Amino acid sequence: MKITIIGTGYVGLVTGACFAEVGHTVTCVDADPKKVALLQAGGIPIYEPGLDEVVRRNVAAGRLLFTQSTGEGVANSEVIFIAVPTPPQPDGSVDMSYIESVAREVAGHLTAYRIIVDKSTVPVKTGEKVTETIKRYRKTSVDFDVVSNPEFLREGFAVEDLMKPDRVVIGVSSQRPVAAMKEIYSPFNAPIIVTDTNSAELIKHAANSFLALKISYANALSVICEAAGANVQEVTRGMGLDNRIGTRFLQASLGFGGSCFPKDLSAFIHISEELGYDFQLLKEVQRINADQMARFVKKIQDNLWVLRDKRIGVLGLAFKQNTDDVRTSPAIDLCQRLLKEGAKLRVYDPEAMEKAKALLPASDTVEYVADMDAVTDGVDALAIATEWPQFTKLDLARARKSMRTPIIFDGRNLFDPAEMEKLGFIYKSIGR
Ligand code: UDX
Ligand code: UDX
Repeated sequence: MKITIIGTGYVGLVTGACFAEVGHTVTCVDADPKKVALLQAGGIPIYEPGLDEVVRRNVAAGRLLFTQSTGEGVANSEVIFIAVPTPPQPDGSVDMSYIESVAREVAGHLTAYRIIVDKSTVPVKTGEKVTETIKRYRKTSVDFDVVSNPEFLREGFAVEDLMKPDRVVIGVSSQRPVAAMKEIYSPFNAPIIVTDTNSAELIKHAANSFLALKISYANALSVICEAAGANVQEVTRGMGLDNRIGTRFLQASLGFGGSCFPKDLSAFIHISEELGYDFQLLKEVQRINADQMARFVKKIQDNLWVLRDKRIGVLGLAFKQNTDDVRTSPAIDLCQRLLKEGAKLRVYDPEAMEKAKALLPASDTVEYVADMDAVTDGVDALAIATEWPQFTKLDLARARKSMRTPIIFDGRNLFDPAEMEKLGFIYKSIGR
């Protein structure tokens, strides 16, 4: 199939690359001339494991093209995916201006039947609005269909999630686009659910909110476990092995972040309100998440007493492992809170340091350190904020010697508390 993707970001680029990998010819369109030039020159604007190889291979095979021109994208392909951002607004609702402007632009270029697929996370009924917009702005009464096809990829595992999806959701308002959509996804050998557009749009918000709810549930349990002297990892494992529950997304932490869960929760609460339902359950998910970070900071304060002028090492800046994405990162939030209390930070992340500098500029109080082990040099405490697997390889004997006081606050439960105490650390983790 010939496919166009508009918006070549974390979602659009990985989706385009994986479509090319299974043999489709993909045109990726982006409004950012620097990004297009970088991609055309063989560069990759984001860190995503495995992505560079897939991109390189498919560019070389002539199946993956980059352009700034929406007109070219619309002319090249029968199926046009929209993957531009849908950022949150201060009241929790979604800023739909990028989607709306892309819909208008696509409409202006329509000269033959096209399937316009919304891949971005959007409020229910967006498909109807996109359809209306295209009808208004098309120059001739050419036929088109609007389809909802939400993405479920996790950053850091995006290539894997795309190549082996648990399911593919296709929301349609007529049968005409179904065959083409099935043809696009048939190489991925996943169950395909064909449903109406509104249900497809709701599936995305319902799924992400449920996953966030699982994490907040584990985080609430972590508070009970700490008070009761139990171990949250044992509790969630014991629960999760019941396959009605499942072990995944039950890792207690200093809270979830990223460009999806916080935004999707607010959006879903807002949408529900508009539809006449007060989704208290999800408000509680948000409250537990905010509380979890506040508790973590309080734990640091309680132990260090005064934070002013204390040196704290921070491992991790990305919002999760295997990514350079720092959007709504709990690690950045933690750093900002510690700075506000007057602490001085030594920070390290394997991939996210460049992007982090925009939100957390290097200064007298924030020192970016080039190597993981050097983060502990001379610090009064170490905080672990991101679950990068390599952090478990921290040279603990070296850390024990190089730290001014051997105190570790682990927001990701990467180490065994008994072993850490044996090594001479004061070790505080989550729910254990
Ligand atoms: C995506 C989804 O689209 C969003 O709905 C979802 O909830 C999170 O993931 P993401 O891929 O993470 O967004 O965003 P980003 O990495 O910022 O990429 C978006 C790209 O679209 C950028 O490269 C930007 O230059 C481009 N863009 C934006 C356009 O090409 N046209 C526009 O009008 C706006
Ligand atoms: C999420 C969804 O998982 C994906 O399906 C969706 O389409 C996009 O949003 P993403 O935000 O990339 O993906 O990462 P995810 O792996 O879901 O992690 C989100 C946050 O939750 C991270 O901050 C992560 O550290 C945290 N998390 C995750 C926990 O605290 N505990 C867990 O058990 C799992």
